Amino acid sequence: MTVKSILSPIKKPNEPPLKTILIFPGSQRKQSLNRRLALHIESLLTQDFRVEILEADAVDLPLFNQEMEQDQVLLEKVKPVYERFRTADGLVVVSPEYNGSFSPYLKNTVDWVSRMPRIHAGQDYINPFHSKPLLLACATPGWSGGILGLQSARNLFAYLGCFILPEQLSLPYAAGAWEEDGSLCDLYFNDHLELTLKRFGMVVENAPGFSQ
Ligand SMILES: Cc1cc2nc3c(=O)[nH]c(=O)nc-3n(C[C@H](O)[C@H](O)[C@H](O)COP(=O)(O)O)c2cc1C
Repeated sequence: MTVKSILSPIKKPNEPPLKTILIFPGSQRKQSLNRRLALHIESLLTQDFRVEILEADAVDLPLFNQEMEQDQVLLEKVKPVYERFRTADGLVVVSPEYNGSFSPYLKNTVDWVSRMPRIHAGQDYINPFHSKPLLLACATPGWSGGILGLQSARNLFAYLGCFILPEQLSLPYAAGAWEEDGSLCDLYFNDHLELTLKRFGMVVENAPGFSQ
C-alpha cells in the first residue's frame, strides 16, 4: 500500500507545523479489528498530520466510581490521558460495537477524562472535547459494520461538545477486509475511506487548533 498525502494539493507534505490527530481504538484486545482499522487510518493521515494512537496500556484506568475522584494517585494516571485529548487538534474514535453501543472501555476512558475540569474546578482544565473535530469509525466481524455503536458514539461525543463529521467509517466483515499487502479488499470502502479522511483532514486543518 502506498502512503500518499490525502490533503495534496491543498497542503504540501510535511509542511510545518503539522496539526495533531489522536486516534483512539476503543478495544483493549491485542488482535483487535478496530485497532487494525485505526492503524490503517493512521497510515493514511501520517503524511499530513502528527498522528498518535492512544494505546490501551497508556490508559489503564479502573471502572469509574465517583468516590475515587479525589484519589490523587489515580488522578496522576488520568492526567496524561486527559492531556492527550486536550492537546489533539482532531480525534478519530474507532470503537467496537458491544450490544448495539460503544465499548465500555471507551465510555470509561471518556468518563474519567470528562471529569477532570470538574475535579480541578477553577484551575486550568478545559473541556478537552469542546468544538474538537471528530471522526467516528467501527469495524465488526459480522455484517452490521457497527452502525448502532456508531450512532451511540455520535450521541456521546455530541453531548461532550465535539464537532462530529457527518460521514463515518463502518467496516463489516473486518476479519477478511485486508489483502496480504495491507491494502483493503473492498475498493468501494477504500474510496469512501480516502474521501472521508480528506474531508476530515480539511476540517482539522481549518479548525482553530488546540495543540499550540
Ligand atoms: C460483549 C460483546 C458484545 C458484542 N456486541 C456486538 C454487537 O452488538 N454488534 C456486533 O457487530 N458485534 C458485537 N460483538 C462482536 C464484536 O464486534 C467483535 O468481538 C469485535 O471483534 C470486537 O472488536 P475488536 O476486534 O476491535 O476487539 C460483541 C462482542 C462482545 C464481546
